[in-house]
Amino acid sequence: MRMVLMGPPGSGKGTRAHIISDLFDIPVVTTGDMLREAVRDETQYGKIAKDYMDRGDLVPDKIVNGIVRERMMKPDVHDGFILDGFPRSQTQADALDEILDDLGIELTHVLFVVLSDEVIIQRLSKRRSCPECGAVYHLESALPKQKDICDACGAQLIQRDDDKEEVIKHRLEVYRELTEPLLERYGNRGLIVETSGEVAMNELKAHLKALLG
Ligand code: AP5
Repeated sequence: MRMVLMGPPGSGKGTRAHIISDLFDIPVVTTGDMLREAVRDETQYGKIAKDYMDRGDLVPDKIVNGIVRERMMKPDVHDGFILDGFPRSQTQADALDEILDDLGIELTHVLFVVLSDEVIIQRLSKRRSCPECGAVYHLESALPKQKDICDACGAQLIQRDDDKEEVIKHRLEVYRELTEPLLERYGNRGLIVETSGEVAMNELKAHLKALLG
């Protein structure tokens, strides 16, 4: 399976990516996590990316395309992958086509998560994230076992800087303008599989297994 996960910010892409990764034993490549790591490590790219991310704008294509190309050349993605959060613009989709051409492989699925803006705003305002391993929790639907502590790595959970309501609204506008048009591109190739973002958390694994199985 060679999958792109698409959907508005906060629709549940990351949550699905990790379930699909466990189900099919393939790695997840998440540009948001890679960029947040670069910001945390204060790398050259991280310093540039921080302002864009805090505002809810897309980090320049040149930076993101370079990071993804480097990651996609590693051998663990050759037998399958889930790209979460990439591509997000036509230029990025062109770059992905080039990378896959170079590797001699093609996408098999574009999983599109459908969810209303209202639910997205409610969910993101209650999301808590692990700054160390990227695990995602929710104050109502996905609580950690111990309050504010990551189950996976024990780090203190945080609320992301871009999970404030004004920034969420801007991220949604950016999504509609730059990312949503990619649905037509992948629809024309017959790659789109839709999944509802409303499926309850405890039913998600069975839902994804039946959908992709
Ligand atoms: P990124 O980290 O990719 O953020 P995003 O696309 O906005 O998506 P999110 O991580 O916010 O949400 P999600 O859809 O993964 O939902 P989740 O599973 O967490 O990008 C952040 C920034 O990085 C961008 O704004 C940009 O600046 C930059 N960036 C990243 N990629 C880039 C690129 N390619 N080009 C340029 N810039 C880039 O779920 C949300 C919440 O809902 C969680 O709390 C979860 O527990 C809960 N939840 C999930 N499913 C359910 C359910 N079924 N029921 C109840 N609650 C649920």
